Amino acid sequence: MSLTVSVFGTGYLGATHAAGMAELGHTVIGVDVDEAKIERLARGEVPFYEPGLPELLRKHVDSGRLRFTTDASEAAQADVHFIGVGTPQKKGENAADMRFVDAVIDTLAPLLTRPAVIFGKSTVPVGTAARLAAKVRELAPVGDQAELAWNPEFLREGFAVEDTLRPDRLVLGVEKGREGRAEAVAREVYAEILGRGTPFLVTDLATAELVKVSANAFLATKISFINAIAEICEVTGADVAQLADAIGYDERIGRKFLGAGLGFGGGCLPKDIRAFQARAGELGVGDALSFLREVDEINLRRREHVVNLVETCAGGQMKGAKVAVLGAAFKPNSDDVRDSPALDAAGRLHLAGADVKVYDPQARHNAEAVWPTIPFKDSMAEALEGADVVLVATEWQEFREADPAAVAGLVASPKIIDGRNCLPAEKWIEAGWEYHGLGRFA
Ligand code: UGA
Repeated sequence: MSLTVSVFGTGYLGATHAAGMAELGHTVIGVDVDEAKIERLARGEVPFYEPGLPELLRKHVDSGRLRFTTDASEAAQADVHFIGVGTPQKKGENAADMRFVDAVIDTLAPLLTRPAVIFGKSTVPVGTAARLAAKVRELAPVGDQAELAWNPEFLREGFAVEDTLRPDRLVLGVEKGREGRAEAVAREVYAEILGRGTPFLVTDLATAELVKVSANAFLATKISFINAIAEICEVTGADVAQLADAIGYDERIGRKFLGAGLGFGGGCLPKDIRAFQARAGELGVGDALSFLREVDEINLRRREHVVNLVETCAGGQMKGAKVAVLGAAFKPNSDDVRDSPALDAAGRLHLAGADVKVYDPQARHNAEAVWPTIPFKDSMAEALEGADVVLVATEWQEFREADPAAVAGLVASPKIIDGRNCLPAEKWIEAGWEYHGLGRFA
């Protein structure tokens, strides 16, 4: 059955979710306070880089099933509301900033004059959903007929459309003792996905909130684990990539997220592990998550290590060393530079006096806004021109598939640091390059 759906927040999560809901057959209205963003979306333009999303968005804007507004009252009549606004790290603190989530509830709840279900999708500290559910009941003219449930989102940037339409599981947290229509409505919203046998776990609110942060904490821990092992490999001459292959064959371990390199970044993993620790502290169980501090530290050490490696490759002299940094986005197939290890490394090198030139196939605009003093180039060749050291900081396909012999002709000195262990090392070495991986060929 087709429902009318609103989605509050039109960033990476909200815009993709809105287009995804339209694809599932619902009539959707996306709401955001950012007028410029809404204007672009209404024209069928995606204001960020996400493969597959422009096509899906345009399809449904054209069909009339998807529209956008800055006026929340236009969304108030929908059967279902999703909250997909950001919960960034608070300035100077580890905790998450809940202002945007609260603002949606404060705006939307007083407009609810007919029964409705609000599904929270944003990543929030455990306990938030229960607090918001009470607030909704209090502020909504329909009172108890306005329900709030938590439906965490697990999409990855770069695969957002695929993850929205074909998730590996759906999780719904409902208020214990007040189970209303939320589960039934969720089954209608996701009927097509559930019809394919996708696992659907209905939990209490706290469990649903914790599922999300636990998943991200686990992924971050897995990456930092292999990066810690990479540190050991670096002093013993072992090869972390082969080691990861070997332990990854054990099904209990698995090879995914054992990619050693510059470490994790982005708008989710770093801030989520910090907010999780902060929340545990508030709950009086800070010790339970003290290991996440170590996870964070291992991760940040990788950036320092890469900068030191560049200095060594530049003969110990950073000032004036010409360094080509390939990549600025926190991962390939994204233009997101939030907490990006690649851009952070470029910034550190720049501040240390290196003559840095950066190229990223998609993230230039966002990266320039953060580092206006770093020269960003339009092509890989321009960044490489005359370089003393090359640092691959984001594993874009263009870099992975570059021809080492051709590239050697552009640089002053063929020295490459593979910050993502993503290059075919032997090929680069054969072509005469001094190759440095992280945790391998050190
Ligand atoms: C992450 C989670 O993977 C999603 O499931 C979750 O929904 C999302 O956060 C969120 O909370 O919204 P995302 O931030 O898009 O998704 O990025 P990931 O694919 O998880 O990568 C995170 C970082 O880890 C990247 O910087 C990536 O380069 C790094 N990484 C990943 C490694 O360093 N090694 C690996 O083996 C894998």
